[in-house]
Amino acid sequence: MSTDRRKFLKHLGTSVLLTSASLNSFAAKQENEVRILRDKKRVSPNDKVRIATIGMGIMGFNDTRAALAVPGVELVGVCDLYKGRLARSKEVYGKDLFTTMDHREILERKDIDAVIVATSDNWHSQIAIDAMRKGKAVYSEKPMVHKISQGLEEIRVQKETKAVFQVGSQRVSSIAYRKAKEMYEAGAIGKINSIEASFNRNSGLGAWQYTLPMDGNIQNVDWARFQATAPPNEKHDFDPLRFFRWRNYREYGTGVAGDLFVHLLSGIHFITGSKGPETIFSIGALDYWKDGRNVPDVMSAVIQYGETKEHPAFQVTLRVNFVSGEGDYGTTKIIGSEGVMDLGGEGESFSIRKNHITDAPGIGGWDSLETYPEAEQKKLLAAYNQRWTKAQQEAPKSEPIVYRAPEDYSANIDHMTNFFDAIRTGKPIVEDAVFGFRAAAPALACNDSYFQKKVIRWDAENMKLV
Ligand SMILES: NC(=O)c1ccc[n+]([C@@H]2O[C@H](COP(=O)([O-])OP(=O)(O)OC[C@H]3O[C@@H](n4cnc5c(N)ncnc54)[C@H](O)[C@@H]3O)[C@@H](O)[C@H]2O)c1
Repeated sequence: MSTDRRKFLKHLGTSVLLTSASLNSFAAKQENEVRILRDKKRVSPNDKVRIATIGMGIMGFNDTRAALAVPGVELVGVCDLYKGRLARSKEVYGKDLFTTMDHREILERKDIDAVIVATSDNWHSQIAIDAMRKGKAVYSEKPMVHKISQGLEEIRVQKETKAVFQVGSQRVSSIAYRKAKEMYEAGAIGKINSIEASFNRNSGLGAWQYTLPMDGNIQNVDWARFQATAPPNEKHDFDPLRFFRWRNYREYGTGVAGDLFVHLLSGIHFITGSKGPETIFSIGALDYWKDGRNVPDVMSAVIQYGETKEHPAFQVTLRVNFVSGEGDYGTTKIIGSEGVMDLGGEGESFSIRKNHITDAPGIGGWDSLETYPEAEQKKLLAAYNQRWTKAQQEAPKSEPIVYRAPEDYSANIDHMTNFFDAIRTGKPIVEDAVFGFRAAAPALACNDSYFQKKVIRWDAENMKLV
């Protein structure tokens, strides 16, 4: 099936701009065919991939479910630092599941081919490096690193070990983002100059105040290991809030920038083919969720991308607002000289609206024309109509395009499918370590800009702070 699927995806790559109606049915048809091909696939016992998940919290369960939806994938073990989540893993996946609180025990096992790293951000890089060195394929949740200083070493280890390595920003594999990229490259919105992207939320859960277990005490949590990667001055006494709501603390998480800007930048880099920006500036505030967190709940960034051989220069504004009366809503609007591409959610849909500048400059309406004497207006209008043809005076009309993936579409499963295809067939990974770091570093630089109150300069080609 991978050959069939490759052929099919190649076919998608050659399709041209479509009208609203045909694109809708085309999308559904494509997706159905991809599914049929996927479901038909027979996996030989030799093709089985045995996995373990390290970090079995919300996303660990979610990623595991997505991985097991790919034919021929089997869960062998789970690692977590809270006993309750190991117990829950056995409830869901059977009492024979291997469980441990030490990720090295997972990596020692010869019957595990691949690991999903879905821990808090502070552990991503270390565990990914340990796993690659032990010959495992790695699916690392985003952001790839907790600190910019970790990126090049992780890339080096990936190159040295040649491990299959993929970062977990699933929109990069989504059918809608792939189609959007194709249409962007076909010139659907002209020459881009700016992008506006955001996540808005307005709830306790949206602002990371997740439910705490009643037995979440020091006896049931390996607190020392949880903060083992922190320098001595960043170590704290056990606090269930810090453990179960780690995103709210810079010591373990990466704030809204590392958590959410990184999704936005991954999508933007995927569609534009960009390696990253030149300058990054951000502001932020802790406006509402004053629960002890040391990261902002409202943050905005202005990011400049210079002209490269991949794209013209463009500006990006990113925003996360956890106190947004707009509710749970996110978007990425890519704005070009001839239209705007609007991508919502996790890659289920997008729309394109066109808007052209006419050759003729325009006359009348909100203009100075009516402020002149009537005779002068007449002369000006006559001269204008003489100078510009009707066609030059009117912008070409086009219907908006809407592309929507089928209802139950999951970009997560497609992202996992790409990961397992790479393990089985050597197919290149789109969101590899270089891509992952090029999205993570500017996102993390937004935190540096906010905390250090300065503009950050980034060398995207060489992946270094300037
Ligand atoms: N791709 C996405 O859309 C998406 C969505 C949500 C979360 N995520 C990412 O997934 C990761 C996990 O987020 P979450 O919401 O599931 O958090 P969570 O708190 O629910 O789960 C994290 C788990 O990791 C465990 N852990 C921490 N350090 C560990 C270590 N050294 N060894 C083993 N286990 C360890 C903790 O015990 C905890 O159970 C984050 O990095 C987050 O950015 C990605």
